[in-house]
Amino acid sequence: MRVRWGILVAVYILHGIHFSPSDALFPHLTMLLNSLWQVVASALLVTAATPTKTVTKRATGASDAAHPFVTVKDGQFIVNGSTLNFVGTNAYWLAALNSDDDIDFTLGNMSAKGIRVVRTWAFNDVETIPENGTWFQLIANGTTTVNEGSNGLQKLDTVVRLAEKHGILLHLSLTNNWNPRPLLENNVTGIIIEGRDVTNGTGNNLPRNTLSNDYGGMDVYVRQFGSGNLSSHDEFYTNPVIISKFLNYTTQIVSRYANNTSVEIANDPRCNSSMKASPNCNTMTVTRFHQNVTDHIKSIDKNHLVASGNQGFFCTNCTKIFPRVPPPQTSPRPGRRSNMVKPLTMRKLFDDRKLAFKKSRALRQKTNPPTGGIRIRGRWMSTETRRQSFDMQNMGPAFDGSQGVDSEDIINIPGLDFGTFQLFPDQNSYGPDDPNLPAFNNTVNQGLAWIQLHASLGKLFNKPIILNGFGLVTQNNSQSFVPFNSSLAPFGADTGTTQAPFGVTDQQRDDAYTQWLQAGLEGGLQGMLQYQWSQGNLTTQVGTAISPPVAGTGVSPDIAGTGVSPDDGYAIQGQAFDNVTGIIQSFSQDFGRDDSSS
Ligand SMILES: *[C@@H]1O[C@H](CO)[C@@H](O)[C@H](O)[C@H]1NC(C)=O
Ligand SMILES: *[C@@H]1O[C@H](CO)[C@@H](O)[C@H](O)[C@H]1NC(C)=O
Ligand SMILES: *[C@@H]1O[C@H](CO)[C@@H](O)[C@H](O)[C@H]1NC(C)=O
Ligand SMILES: *[C@@H]1O[C@H](CO)[C@@H](O)[C@H](O)[C@H]1NC(C)=O
Ligand SMILES: *[C@@H]1O[C@H](CO)[C@@H](O)[C@H](O)[C@H]1NC(C)=O
Ligand SMILES: *[C@@H]1O[C@H](CO)[C@@H](O)[C@H](O)[C@H]1NC(C)=O
Ligand SMILES: *[C@@H]1O[C@H](CO)[C@@H](O)[C@H](O)[C@H]1NC(C)=O
Ligand SMILES: *[C@@H]1O[C@H](CO)[C@@H](O)[C@H](O)[C@H]1NC(C)=O
Ligand SMILES: *[C@@H]1O[C@H](CO)[C@@H](O)[C@H](O)[C@H]1NC(C)=O
Ligand SMILES: *[C@@H]1O[C@H](CO)[C@@H](O)[C@H](O)[C@H]1NC(C)=O
Ligand SMILES: *[C@@H]1O[C@H](CO)[C@@H](O)[C@H](O)[C@H]1NC(C)=O
Ligand SMILES: *[C@@H]1O[C@H](CO)[C@@H](O)[C@H](O)[C@H]1NC(C)=O
Repeated sequence: MRVRWGILVAVYILHGIHFSPSDALFPHLTMLLNSLWQVVASALLVTAATPTKTVTKRATGASDAAHPFVTVKDGQFIVNGSTLNFVGTNAYWLAALNSDDDIDFTLGNMSAKGIRVVRTWAFNDVETIPENGTWFQLIANGTTTVNEGSNGLQKLDTVVRLAEKHGILLHLSLTNNWNPRPLLENNVTGIIIEGRDVTNGTGNNLPRNTLSNDYGGMDVYVRQFGSGNLSSHDEFYTNPVIISKFLNYTTQIVSRYANNTSVEIANDPRCNSSMKASPNCNTMTVTRFHQNVTDHIKSIDKNHLVASGNQGFFCTNCTKIFPRVPPPQTSPRPGRRSNMVKPLTMRKLFDDRKLAFKKSRALRQKTNPPTGGIRIRGRWMSTETRRQSFDMQNMGPAFDGSQGVDSEDIINIPGLDFGTFQLFPDQNSYGPDDPNLPAFNNTVNQGLAWIQLHASLGKLFNKPIILNGFGLVTQNNSQSFVPFNSSLAPFGADTGTTQAPFGVTDQQRDDAYTQWLQAGLEGGLQGMLQYQWSQGNLTTQVGTAISPPVAGTGVSPDIAGTGVSPDDGYAIQGQAFDNVTGIIQSFSQDFGRDDSSS
C-alpha cells in the first residue's frame, strides 16, 4: 500500500522571541536583545490531505481510504477513523534544498524515525530575483508575482508529493513575523546592528534562506505596500492592500493543493517584529486578522484544517472578540483523568505559582543545598541574578497581552480548527523564576507549566492543540545560535565577544525534552514538533541555504565538506542527534499508542 496519510498542511506564522539571557558579562548585549525582541510570531495552520498531482482525481470534500483528510472531532484529530496524535519535527528549509533527491532522502530519514508530521515554510518572498536558489513570490514595485517554475512552487509540489510518499503530513506555514533587515530598522536602541547585507566579520554573512527569518514574510509586504517610512509591522494586519496581497498568495497556495492536498495558511501574528508596532495594535488587531484569513481559506477550501501559528501567549484580562460560550466538555479518554477545565485567570496563575514555590522552598530547606547557585545554563545565568528578577506579582509578557497575542481568543475563532503554541525558553519568558531552584529547573518547570496551560486551553474549547515548535540551545551549539529576530549569532566565533558557556548541556536538553514530551502526552496535547531537524550529506550550491563552506564564517553550515541543513542553534548534529531522534521516536510511538480506532 502506497501511502497512508493525507497531508496535514498548515500555514504558519513563525516564532516569537524574547531573549532572556541575563547579563553580568553582556549587559550591553542583553539590553539590545531585549529591546529588539519583544515580539513573537505565529501562524495560521491548515491541514490538508494529499497532493493533487500524484493522486487520482476525486471530488473535493470526498474522502477515500488511501487519501483521507485529517478532520477534527471532540478535541481530537481524526484520520481514517482513528485519532491522530504525533511527535514530529520542523524543517523550514525543505523546499530550499538543491535537489529532489535531497528532499526525498531527508523526508525518508524523518519517516524512518517514526515522524508523521513535519512543519515547513510554504512561503519564500523576495524583493529582487535571486541568482540561485528557491523563491516563491517576488514582491516589488507594487506587484506580486508567483514563481511557478522549477525553482518556485514546483519545489513545494515536490515536498508535498514526497511527504506523501513517506507517509508524512505537512504543516505548512504561509508567512513569517520575522524578517530582520538590520540596517533599515533594527536601530531601536540607537545602536545599529550590522545585518546580513553586511558581509564582513559579524558572523552574519549567511547565504539566503539559511535562517528561518530570511524567507521574506510580513515585513516585506509592509515595506513594499505600506505607507512608507512610518510603516509599522502591524500594518500587515490592517492595511487593505496588504491583506489583499497576502490573501492572493494564500489563495494560490491553498487552491494549488486543495483537492487531495493540503493547504494553507498562516500567519504569524504579533504586533511587532523587526519593524515596530503602532500604538494602535493590540490583541484584537491580531485576532481579527486571523479571523479574516481563516474565513478566506475556508471559502476556498473546506477540507483542510486551519490554525494560527501563534506562540501561545495569554492575556487573562484582555477584551475578547470571541467570548467563550462554555462548550460541552468531552469525557476523558480511557486512562485519562477527568478534569473539568476553567478559563485561565491571573488569580489561578498566581495561586499555582505560589504553591509550586512553597513546595520548592520546603524541599530546599529540608535538603539544605549549598548556596551560590548552580551554574547550569551559563556563567552569567547565576541564581543570584535570577533571584533578583523574581517578582511574583508580575507574570510577564507571556500573560499580559503585551505581545499582541491572545491565544485564548484566537483558538475560539469559529472555523479555526486547532490551537498552536511554542516553547523557546532561550528567547521567551514564561513566568517568574522560582528563587529556590537552579536556572535549569526553572526552565524545565516553566515549560511543563506552559504545556499544561495549553493542554487545558485545548480542552476548554474542545479543539486539538499542538506544540508546533520547541527547543533549547546547548553549550555545544551556542556558536550557531541566531535568535528569530536577528541575523547575528551573538555567541558566534566572529562576533568579537568573549565566548561564554551559554546554553544547557546535551544531557540537560535531553532531560528537558523528555520531561516536556511526557507532560504533553499525559496532559493530552495532540501533537508536539521538535525544532529543528538536521540533515547531512546534502547537495551544495553557491548562494543557497546549502552552500559549500565559506571561509571565515563561524556559523558556516558545513560538516566535513558536505552539505548540512541550516543550523540556527537548534539543529543537532553527531551522536547527540541520534539521542534526540531516539527520544522523538520513542514518544512518537507512545503518542501513537493513543490511537483508538472508532
Ligand atoms: C485507512 O484505512 C484503510 C483500510 O483499513 C487502509 O488501507 C489505509 O491505509 C488507511 N489509511 C490511513 C491514512 O491510515
Ligand atoms: C479539484 O477538483 C475539482 C472537481 O473535481 C476540479 O474542478 C478542480 O479543477 C480541481 N482542482 C485542482 C487544483 O486540481
Ligand atoms: C523596481 O523598480 C526599480 C526602479 O525602476 C528598478 O530598478 C528595479 O529593478 C525594480 N525591481 C524589480 C524587481 O523589478
Ligand atoms: C495575484 O497574484 C497573481 C500571481 O502572482 C498576480 O498575477 C496577480 O496580479 C495578483 N493579484 C493581485 C490583485 O495582486
Ligand atoms: C535609527 O538611526 C537613525 C540614524 O542614526 C536615526 O536617525 C534614527 O532616529 C534611529 N531610529 C531609532 C528608532 O532609533
Ligand atoms: C570586507 O570584505 C571585503 C571583500 O573581502 C574587503 O574588501 C573589505 O575590506 C572588508 N571590509 C572590512 C571592514 O573588513
Ligand atoms: C479581509 O480583509 C480584506 C481587507 O480589509 C477585506 O477586503 C476582506 O473582505 C476581508 N475578508 C474576510 C473574509 O473577512
Ligand atoms: C491587564 O492587566 C495588566 C496588568 O494588571 C494591565 O497593565 C493592563 O492594562 C490590563 N489590560 C487590559 C486590556 O485591561
Ligand atoms: C533539578 O533538575 C534535576 C534534573 O532534572 C533534578 O535531578 C533535580 O532534582 C532538580 N532539583 C530540584 C531542586 O528540583
Ligand atoms: C554522510 O553519509 C555517510 C555515509 O553514509 C555517513 O557515514 C555520515 O555520517 C553522513 N554524514 C552526515 C553529516 O550525515
Ligand atoms: C550562483 O551559482 C553559480 C554556480 O554555482 C555561482 O558561480 C554564482 O556565484 C552564484 N551566485 C551567487 C550570487 O551566489
Ligand atoms: C547519548 O546517549 C548515550 C546513552 O544514553 C549517552 O551515554 C551519551 O552521553 C549521550 N550523548 C550525547 C551527546 O548526549
